[in-house]
Amino acid sequence: MKTAFEVYLRTPYRKLTLIKTGVGTEILAAITMRSFVAALVVVTTLLLGERCLARQPSNSRLSEAEIERQIETLLSQMTLEEKLGQLQQLHGIKDSGMHRPGQLEKVEKGLAGSFYHVRGARNVNVLHNATLQSRLKIPLLLAFDVIHGYRTLFPIPLGEAASWDLKAAERAASIAAAEARSAGVHWTFAPMVDISRDPRWGRVMEGSGEDVHLGVELAKARIRGFQGADYSQKDKVLACAKHLVGYGAAEGGRDYNTVDMSERRLRETYLPPFKAAVDAGVGSFMTAFNDLNGMPATANKFILRDILRGEWEFDGLVVSDHNSVEEMINHGLAADKSEAARLALNAGTDMEMFSGTYLENGAKLVETGKVATETINNAVRNVLRIKFRLGLFENPNAPVSAEQEQATLKKPEFLKAAREIAAKSFVLLKNENETLPIDLNKTKRLAVIGALADDKPNTLDWWSGDAHAEDSITILQGLRDFVAAANANLTSPATVTFSKGCESTCDSDKDFPAARIVAAAADFVVIVVGEIREVSGEAGSLSNIDLSGRQLDLVKEIAATGKPYVVVLKNGRPLTITWLAENAPAILVTWHAGTMGGPAVADVLFGAVVNPQWKTPHEFPRSLGQIPLNYDYKNTGRPFNASAPLRDTSRYMDAPNTPLYPFGFGLSYTTFRIDELNLSSERVQNGESVRVSVQVQNTGNRAGEEVVQLYLRDVYAAITRPMRQLKGFQKVALEAGEKRQVEFVVLPEDMSFLDEAWKMTVEAGEFEVFVGNSVNAVMGKFTVEGSTSTAAPTGATTVVTSTQASSAQKNVARLALYLVFTLLALN
Ligand SMILES: *[C@@H]1O[C@H](CO)[C@@H](O)[C@H](O)[C@H]1NC(C)=O
Ligand SMILES: *[C@@H]1O[C@H](CO)[C@@H](O)[C@H](O)[C@H]1NC(C)=O
Ligand SMILES: *[C@@H]1O[C@H](CO)[C@@H](O)[C@H](O)[C@H]1NC(C)=O
Ligand SMILES: *[C@@H]1O[C@H](CO)[C@@H](O)[C@H](O)[C@H]1NC(C)=O
Ligand SMILES: *[C@@H]1O[C@H](CO)[C@@H](O)[C@H](O)[C@H]1NC(C)=O
Ligand SMILES: *[C@@H]1O[C@H](CO)[C@@H](O)[C@H](O)[C@H]1NC(C)=O
Repeated sequence: MKTAFEVYLRTPYRKLTLIKTGVGTEILAAITMRSFVAALVVVTTLLLGERCLARQPSNSRLSEAEIERQIETLLSQMTLEEKLGQLQQLHGIKDSGMHRPGQLEKVEKGLAGSFYHVRGARNVNVLHNATLQSRLKIPLLLAFDVIHGYRTLFPIPLGEAASWDLKAAERAASIAAAEARSAGVHWTFAPMVDISRDPRWGRVMEGSGEDVHLGVELAKARIRGFQGADYSQKDKVLACAKHLVGYGAAEGGRDYNTVDMSERRLRETYLPPFKAAVDAGVGSFMTAFNDLNGMPATANKFILRDILRGEWEFDGLVVSDHNSVEEMINHGLAADKSEAARLALNAGTDMEMFSGTYLENGAKLVETGKVATETINNAVRNVLRIKFRLGLFENPNAPVSAEQEQATLKKPEFLKAAREIAAKSFVLLKNENETLPIDLNKTKRLAVIGALADDKPNTLDWWSGDAHAEDSITILQGLRDFVAAANANLTSPATVTFSKGCESTCDSDKDFPAARIVAAAADFVVIVVGEIREVSGEAGSLSNIDLSGRQLDLVKEIAATGKPYVVVLKNGRPLTITWLAENAPAILVTWHAGTMGGPAVADVLFGAVVNPQWKTPHEFPRSLGQIPLNYDYKNTGRPFNASAPLRDTSRYMDAPNTPLYPFGFGLSYTTFRIDELNLSSERVQNGESVRVSVQVQNTGNRAGEEVVQLYLRDVYAAITRPMRQLKGFQKVALEAGEKRQVEFVVLPEDMSFLDEAWKMTVEAGEFEVFVGNSVNAVMGKFTVEGSTSTAAPTGATTVVTSTQASSAQKNVARLALYLVFTLLALN
């Protein structure tokens, strides 16, 4: 990654350049002898500090310079048609993983650079053999939607986000990568790093929720998981940050709809996860379907050239979304396919997915001078560069091994991880009078109600990779297995009975009476309701996010028996669940939890293995009319004050402004107290950090883990700032009664915002800091003194974690810089 290594350390004396010289080695080339000594100090410090500066993936075994040489050699041998072929991505058959009729001939002629959907050793090797028949034998780049698992399915990304567990997200992605690569897949169209604040949009399930900081951290974690330090390794895949950009802001939450927003909102909210993806070394980007301020993303020069290639210096691959080049005709931008191809190529969309406008029109466009040869060459370079970095040119004759594939998929350790990570994604929204966990010593007759509890096909969600429904364990089976195992140790065994109540879509109440009888005969009822896969994911937009069909009536029917119950939600988005919030004794959000979702639900409901401690990554609105709803709102000129409600304030007449469940909310089987906030100083000079400590105590009688969150507010600034913004979080595990000090370092970057010239700026003035969780936060104040400081233009916010660990890493980096400057000064 050339750009990533071009780190210029500007000083009045010297310019040092970090250059990459081979397999994962970076050497600081200095201009003078003394600077060289300084450089040595830096290298040593970096080594001591281990990972103190974000390391870029070292990629394939060839050096970057060698890769560039080989690209030029290959390019010089290619015909224009072969070049255009490299830019074309063909689609195989999703269900079978095979290619389509006529596609092998294209491969043999060198007219296809990439495929998606084709996967599995057998299918892949057929394509591979066809490649070997082509003139230049350029390997194919094989892609697939490995969104949250390949064969072993993990929770949907929104669920993973609810875990606030970056290690878990990284591990899920790394297992998905190992399985996918074993099946011949090189490239996943993930992670989706679109911020979204509208749960009507079906694709909220595929993202990290509403928050920028959490979104940035999860984007990096998932890219680390998919790509590792080197995606040429045989258990890694190339990641693709998508959808550049604004896709999550579709008007009305209707998929593919128009997006229109200010550059400020774009840069403050929607771009940072994409910038973070570049920083994490992501190898590819996908353009969005939508138009952004009048220009479809696939032809958007401002985004693809000025920002991505210009400001961020990205040198990887940009692919269109499925058919999004040709769809520019529907957008009303291109009159025909030729114009669509011209606009997309000139804007910097290197590879065309699905539609075939590049191959069809590219030669004519070059002949007539509408697209420069160099534009085509650069796009081809980007494709080839990724193929080299993936190591595809090495061992071109080695087929993908079917045995290796079989040995990799669904490994027991992968299933175990899927179960653990699923349990970590659940959010306990309500637990009145300690309804949960279910105590099998006392609860002997358990009833399970709801078709979704026993619906194998719906254990798969909209994005299920290559997962097979028969591999997964339903909630009903998970509960039965758990109880059967527990019975071995119980003096009197527990039983599980089941009744659907209605089908998964719940169109009829005719089976309600049967369900009521089953519930009435039980000591405790688990009601499973929520969403089927079809109303979630791509094109799964809804204009109503209540429980669908008669599901709420079913819950009311069971509630009327007077038996204690928990509502287990199986959902792809935040739902409007006001009745449940007011009436149900307990609510557990389990999202679409993947292959091992059923056992994970049992682990949490019985509290035997897991004590929930996870937090909503997206607010749950009270009603649809509150959308968009986000915690980092601005105060306005007429803020609403619930203690002194006035008419002429920013409010709804018929509903509170607050969500039903706020961002960052989630209960545990224990309780925590967060207090004694202490600041290292209440007055700091501009450019200095502030240490913030709190005391966290487990005040319940079980061990548990709390996600301690730090929010910051810049009270007065040259650009109005949100009431609070998440800047860091830490997970703290505590035994019953245990207390611990937790410290955050708020860095100048955390206090900064983009000024009118898009420079990161820290202004002198007052700041408020909140530490805690959504329902219990302690507040402190500090003042920054001295003149406004601006960093170099960054193009997008550099979001910095203010956790202890990252600040320790930064301190090492700072020490290194300090030593360089000292030595340079001696020069
Ligand atoms: C690919 O070609 C090799 C060598 O001709 C052959 O042994 C192998 O069976 C072929 N594989 C497939 C999947 O067609
Ligand atoms: C249930 O009873 C067993 C045996 O008396 C005991 O070891 C266990 O702790 C009990 N479980 C709970 C949750 O109270
Ligand atoms: C049953 O009790 C034994 C002995 O305490 C323990 O090792 C085992 O894990 C228990 N089994 C279950 C299913 O709880
Ligand atoms: C919880 O306890 C309170 C006080 O005993 C009682 O009024 C309420 O009905 C209980 N709620 C549930 C769901 O059991
Ligand atoms: C809201 O109103 C209460 C009662 O008048 C007042 O004490 C409080 O300061 C107000 N809050 C704000 C933020 O103005
Ligand atoms: C907070 O700071 C005060 C004064 O420095 C100190 O006495 C107190 O122990 C600190 N509290 C915690 C929890 O660190």
